[in-house]
Amino acid sequence: MTREYEGKNGMMLIDGIAATDIAEEFGTPVYVTEEKRVRENYRRIHEAFSRYMNTEVHYACKANTNLSVLRILEQEGSCIDAVSIGEVHSCLRAGFTPDRILYTGVNVSNEELKALVDVGCMINIDSESELERLAHISTDVKISVRVTPGVTSGHDVRVMTGGRGSKFGIPIKRTIPVYARAKALGFDIKGIHAHTGSGGEGIEQFTEVAEVLSDLANDIREEVGIDLDFIDIGGGVGVPYKLQEEETDVEELASLVTEIILEETDVKTVLLEPGRYIVADSTVLLTRCVDIKNAGTKKYIGVDAGFNTLIRPSFYDSYHMVATANKFNKACTDKYDIVGPICESGDYLAHNRVMPNPEEGDLVAVFNAGAYGFSMSSEYNSRPRCAEVLVSNGKACLTRKAESMEDLWRNQIIPEGLRK
Ligand SMILES: Cc1ncc(COP(=O)(O)O)c(C=O)c1O
Repeated sequence: MTREYEGKNGMMLIDGIAATDIAEEFGTPVYVTEEKRVRENYRRIHEAFSRYMNTEVHYACKANTNLSVLRILEQEGSCIDAVSIGEVHSCLRAGFTPDRILYTGVNVSNEELKALVDVGCMINIDSESELERLAHISTDVKISVRVTPGVTSGHDVRVMTGGRGSKFGIPIKRTIPVYARAKALGFDIKGIHAHTGSGGEGIEQFTEVAEVLSDLANDIREEVGIDLDFIDIGGGVGVPYKLQEEETDVEELASLVTEIILEETDVKTVLLEPGRYIVADSTVLLTRCVDIKNAGTKKYIGVDAGFNTLIRPSFYDSYHMVATANKFNKACTDKYDIVGPICESGDYLAHNRVMPNPEEGDLVAVFNAGAYGFSMSSEYNSRPRCAEVLVSNGKACLTRKAESMEDLWRNQIIPEGLRK
C-alpha cells in the first residue's frame, strides 16, 4: 500500500499545505519533499536493524542528492553510499565527514581514485584492476570489496546488478585471491559488500546475499587471516508504487538478515544502502495541465513535466500513481494518458489512468517521485531543470531554484570564428 495524502475541500494537502498553493508560489513543474517523511523512513529502517546488531545505514544518495535532503539525513546520523566524486563532494558539502562515506564506483578512473584518496573516504573495490591502480596511488586507505553474489533483483533488468557475469564486483571465485592481494599490498581491509539490484520485491534476495557474504567472510578469515568489521548487504529495498503493492516488512528483513550474520560469523556490524526506501515516498512532482487532447482512440492530459523532469516511466516503464491535486478524491470520468512536452512519442508520465474531468490549469500530482526523480532529470529539448521545495512543519521552502535559460548556455563556448 502506498502512503496516502489528505485532502480538504477537494484540494490535496502536503503536510497541511495545499499543493495548489505550493505550485502557485514556486511554479511548475516542481518536486515537493516532506522533511518529516524522510526522517520517518530513515528511522524505521535504522531502528529495525539496530535492534539486533550494530548498524550503519548508508543512504544511497544517487536516489536524491538535494543538499537539504542530505542535511536531514546527516542530522539523523546516516552514513552515505556514494558512486561518484560528485556525490562525495555533495555529501561533504552537506556536512558529512569522510569517515561516514563509503564510495562504491564502477569503472573508476585513476583521477577519481586520487580525488577519493585526498578526501579520505572508504573505497569499495570493484575490480582487480582498481585494486592495483589504487595501490599505485596509495595504500593508506580503508577498503572493502564488492563481490558479484550471483543473486540478482530489481524492478527492471537495467538495474539488476548481482547476477553472475555482471559488470559490477568481483566474481566469487576471485574473492579470496583479491583479499590476499589487498592484504599483501598493505590495505586496511574493513568489510565485504554486495548489491543485488535496485527496487526489487520482497526480502529473499537479502537473505541470500547475507548467506553468500557470511560464507565469504568466514573463508576470508580462515584462508587470509582477516577479521572483517562489517558485512554490507547493499541497497534495493523495494517500495510500493501501486495501491495494491505491499510495503517491504523491514522488521522481518532486519531480523532474518542479522540472524544469519550473527549465527554464522563473528562480524559485528551490518551495513545497508537503501536509497529509494528513504526518499521515494517523501516527494511528489507537481505538474500543470497545459493542454487537453482527444485523439479519437486516446485522450491526453498534456502537462509541463516530461521525461526531462521524471524519466522513470519512459525509461523503465515505471508506474507512478497520479491524481489531480485540485480535484482531489473527485469522481473520475474517463481514462487519460498523462504526457509531457518532450518531442518523442515515448514521453509520458502515466498511461490509461482514470481521472476527474480535466481542464487546462489543473494541477497533476505524481506520487513517489523522490527517488531517481530530480537526480535523473535533464535539460533535454533545452528545457531548464525544475525547482525543488522542502516542506517542514507546515512551511514550504525553496531548496533548489529552477534553472534559467542562461543555465542552458552557461558552459558553452562559441569558437571565435563562429561568433557574431
Ligand atoms: C551499490 C548500490 N547501493 C545501493 C543502491 C540503492 O538502491 P535502492 O535505491 O534501490 O535502494 C544502488 C542503486 O543502484 C547501488 O548501486
